[in-house]
Amino acid sequence: MLRRVNFYSICIAFGLSVLLILAGSRYTDNTNYRPSESRRNIRNFLKPIEDVDESSLQPIPTNADDGTPDVDKILDRTRLKIKHELWNYNFTQSGVQNLDGLLMESGGQPFRSLIISTWRFCKLFPFQSMKVVRVRLRLVKQLLQDKELNLKVILLIRDPRGVMQSRQHRNFCQPAPDCWKPELLCADMISDYVAAARLKQEYPHRFMALRYEELALSPNSTSYALLKFLGLGITPSIDEFLHSHTNVEVAGVSSTFRVSRDVPFRWKNVLDFNYVDEIQMTCKEAMSLWGYRNAHNSTHMTSKDYNPLDQYSLTQ
Ligand SMILES: *[C@@H]1O[C@H](CO)[C@@H](O)[C@H](O)[C@H]1NC(C)=O
Ligand SMILES: *[C@@H]1O[C@H](CO)[C@@H](O)[C@H](O)[C@H]1NC(C)=O
Ligand SMILES: *[C@@H]1O[C@H](CO)[C@@H](O)[C@H](O)[C@H]1NC(C)=O
Repeated sequence: MLRRVNFYSICIAFGLSVLLILAGSRYTDNTNYRPSESRRNIRNFLKPIEDVDESSLQPIPTNADDGTPDVDKILDRTRLKIKHELWNYNFTQSGVQNLDGLLMESGGQPFRSLIISTWRFCKLFPFQSMKVVRVRLRLVKQLLQDKELNLKVILLIRDPRGVMQSRQHRNFCQPAPDCWKPELLCADMISDYVAAARLKQEYPHRFMALRYEELALSPNSTSYALLKFLGLGITPSIDEFLHSHTNVEVAGVSSTFRVSRDVPFRWKNVLDFNYVDEIQMTCKEAMSLWGYRNAHNSTHMTSKDYNPLDQYSLTQ
């Protein structure tokens, strides 16, 4: 239970840090602001910290005349928060000198990230609007080729047994065959593997594949790897969080399986072995490519000695 809470907290903490950067780019994409206005707003950033904390408790600013949300004020506040959160951020790690280097309204180039996954429920990424479910990776290549876009792409892969388990109770799945047929899911995983191997080779600094389960098993090192890939420095709050929550990082075999009851591995205790075996046979190739081990029988499946994760490498 504790581990599950930690896992979600990591998700949220990581998500927030990415959101900060994205929020900067999202809001600055709006072209309604005049330069003079933004300069004035930037001066507002320099308000003392006490102001910031107070402002976060204030209700949403509204226009006096009609009570609608005051968008300018909300944006100002958001800018202030971003500035505040990043006041001690080492921008060199992100290849720029200061925050302005990442803000379009200051002539900078924001970081953009795209998360591609074949299923919906992780709370890791708050920027769901940027999450693309089941986009064909071949299309992504065109986006990666665009240097101006400065896009980084993360392909999120999950054990098909876990995917099927998470989809079991979803009514929305029923009418769509590709949602509940493992053969279709796993055919996607195979073609994604082929495309991912190629993208990884061509764009090693802009493309990354990540197995969902790795984040659960090694939240600290996976978060570090992810942030490094995204070019995001570890902010003090993230660092503090990772230190206080992940010092029990899984090292030995036995400790690994304490998380087996947690979300990513719930299928082990919830699914019937016959169904799991069916998925395993259907998904033999996909699972072997992405490094997921078979469970041999129902005892094996639920035993602590069974680690579903194997090594894998993205090679053609
Ligand atoms: C900032 O990051 C760069 C690159 O990682 C590093 O060389 C530099 O020492 C860092 N500066 C500070 C103040 O930590
Ligand atoms: C987390 O991982 C980073 C990078 O691998 C490492 O430097 C740091 O010491 C780790 N922290 C903990 C608490 O394990
Ligand atoms: C289940 O699989 C494990 C691992 O392969 C094996 O050692 C064990 O004998 C099997 N049990 C049964 C009842 O087949």
